[in-house]
Amino acid sequence: MKLCMIGSGYVGLVTGACFSDLGNEVICVDNDTKKIDNLKKGIIPIYEPGLEELVIRNTKQNRLTFSSNLKESVKKSDIIFICVGTPTRKNGSSADLSYVYNVAKEISLSINKFKIIITKSTVPVTTGDLIENLISKKVNKNLFCVASNPEFLREGEAIRDFKYPDRIVVGSNSSSIIKTMKSLYSPLINKGSKFFTTNRKGAELIKYAANAFLATKITYINEIANLCEKINVNVEDVSLGIGSDLRIGSRFLRAGPSYGGSCFPKDTKGLISIGEKEKVDLSIVKSVVKSNENRKKLILNKISKILKNKIKNKKVSILGVTFKPNTDDMRDSMSLKIIPYLIKKGAIVSYYDPTGEKKEFKNLSNCNFYMNINDAVKNADLIILHTEWDEFKSLNFNSLIKKKKTSLYDLRNLLNTADIKVKNLEYFSIGRPKIN
Ligand SMILES: NC(=O)c1ccc[n+]([C@@H]2O[C@H](COP(=O)([O-])OP(=O)(O)OC[C@H]3O[C@@H](n4cnc5c(N)ncnc54)[C@H](O)[C@@H]3O)[C@@H](O)[C@H]2O)c1
Repeated sequence: MKLCMIGSGYVGLVTGACFSDLGNEVICVDNDTKKIDNLKKGIIPIYEPGLEELVIRNTKQNRLTFSSNLKESVKKSDIIFICVGTPTRKNGSSADLSYVYNVAKEISLSINKFKIIITKSTVPVTTGDLIENLISKKVNKNLFCVASNPEFLREGEAIRDFKYPDRIVVGSNSSSIIKTMKSLYSPLINKGSKFFTTNRKGAELIKYAANAFLATKITYINEIANLCEKINVNVEDVSLGIGSDLRIGSRFLRAGPSYGGSCFPKDTKGLISIGEKEKVDLSIVKSVVKSNENRKKLILNKISKILKNKIKNKKVSILGVTFKPNTDDMRDSMSLKIIPYLIKKGAIVSYYDPTGEKKEFKNLSNCNFYMNINDAVKNADLIILHTEWDEFKSLNFNSLIKKKKTSLYDLRNLLNTADIKVKNLEYFSIGRPKIN
């Protein structure tokens, strides 16, 4: 099939490359011309394991091409996927749909034959209706159809998630569109992935409801971790004890800092805002958002407490700054709170991340990026283990710690408390009994 992905970010580029790998002809479009020029040269704009190889292989086969000409790309394609961002509005909590509507307007000027238009971006319920109305101002309704196919991939695992999705959801009332989408996804369905359909609004809601539920699980275990710290219980035992119950499930029950990333913060707020529009009080999701905001303050207070409230001139090293491992994505990462807080209080911050220096910290004075862990933690008063990259799992703190007294705050419970009995190192983690 001939596909066009509009928006070549984490979702559009990964799904476009994966669809081309299944034998489809795919054009990945973006209005960021530099991104497109680089992609044409084989330069991948994001860090996603396995993506570069996939892009290069399919580009060589001419199945995957890149363009900044939306109109021409739409004309050449049968199925158009809208994959642009839907961030939280600057002054509010609902999703900013301006990117989606801009794309819809451009599509409406390019329809030359029947097109299936799919929203893959996470969009509030009824956005499909609004896109349909917008396009129908310019184009006869017989010439296009709008359906929803929300994306559930996780950054860092995106290619595996595309190839082996737990489920594929398509929202449409048209049996012929569903048939086409089923055929597009048939290589994955034939390997055992569930394919199910609902109406367009149902599919739009499923995505928000799924993300809000996962955010709820994380927030729940984070609150239980707070309790564990007070009563000297190991939160990991609690996670195992409750997660073994199949009704609950063990995933997303690992205590840590506040949840972040490009989806959970904006989608929880987005869902509340959908509820408000429909006059439904989504009190659970509201509590989750509130609890997650409180958690940021709680973690900052704990950092201050570890440094005995004397942050000025303290050397603090942060290991990992992205919101999770195997991605370079910084959106809503807890490090964006921690580092500016420390700098404001007069600390000298050094950080290391496997995906390199971050533009977010470039203009901060007293904040330096180091290319390796040894240099980053040299002479640190406090090391904060922020992101669970594999390379931090087996660090030898005996050889890393050179100072008389250093503290380590392990925000991911990455280190085994039994292994961390290192001279001169005071170890703190999340929801686990203190060891020294
Ligand atoms: N990132 C994830 O893990 C993930 C997972 C599932 C769903 N989603 C959803 O998918 C959508 C996209 O997310 P993302 O993380 O890929 O965003 P992103 O910011 O990485 O990519 C969006 C891309 O769209 C491009 N763009 C914006 N306006 C355009 C236009 N008019 N024409 C062409 N290109 C345009 C931008 O330049 C950018 O490259 C969001 O709604 C998000 O919630 C994201």
